[in-house]
Amino acid sequence: MSAYVILKHLHVTTAYLTVVLFALRLLLDAVGKPDWRKTPLRWIPHANDTVLLVAAISLLFVTPWVPLVHGWLTAKIFLLIGYIIAGLFALRTNLGTPTRVVAALLAFVQITAIFHLALTKPVF
Ligand code: HEM
Repeated sequence: MSAYVILKHLHVTTAYLTVVLFALRLLLDAVGKPDWRKTPLRWIPHANDTVLLVAAISLLFVTPWVPLVHGWLTAKIFLLIGYIIAGLFALRTNLGTPTRVVAALLAFVQITAIFHLALTKPVF
């Protein structure tokens, strides 16, 4: 298997996992189980996101895609920053429910846009 195939599989798998792990933590908070913060679920998403990003950056070396040259990739990077910030707010227990719900919605809109850009790679 080529480095490209391995990296792409790793990137895509961890990309789907980041959504699942984010949704799971929100769900546990929503059903009154904030103690997930005392379980491995506290660090597993960070480990997954590290692999996701390492695979993403590695892909740049084995594909023709270049940030700031290919608009879909540039937009993806900005949306990723937005997703991280919104995700942090959504999971903060010291914020009110309305703020956290809005932050969670913003995070989901942005991650959906990231997937859309990744899958369609529009030229702009
Ligand atoms: C949460 C963040 C991210 C998600 C959910 C995500 C998701 C995806 C998905 C699903 C694909 C596969 C598209 C396909 O099947 O053709 C993909 C491709 C790709 N991603 Fe990401 N990605 C993320 C972040 C990044 C970042 C930060 C970079 C660059 C620094 C990046 C670089 C790439 C590249 C270069 C490809 C194209 C591989 C190819 O088709 O040849 N990704 N991404």
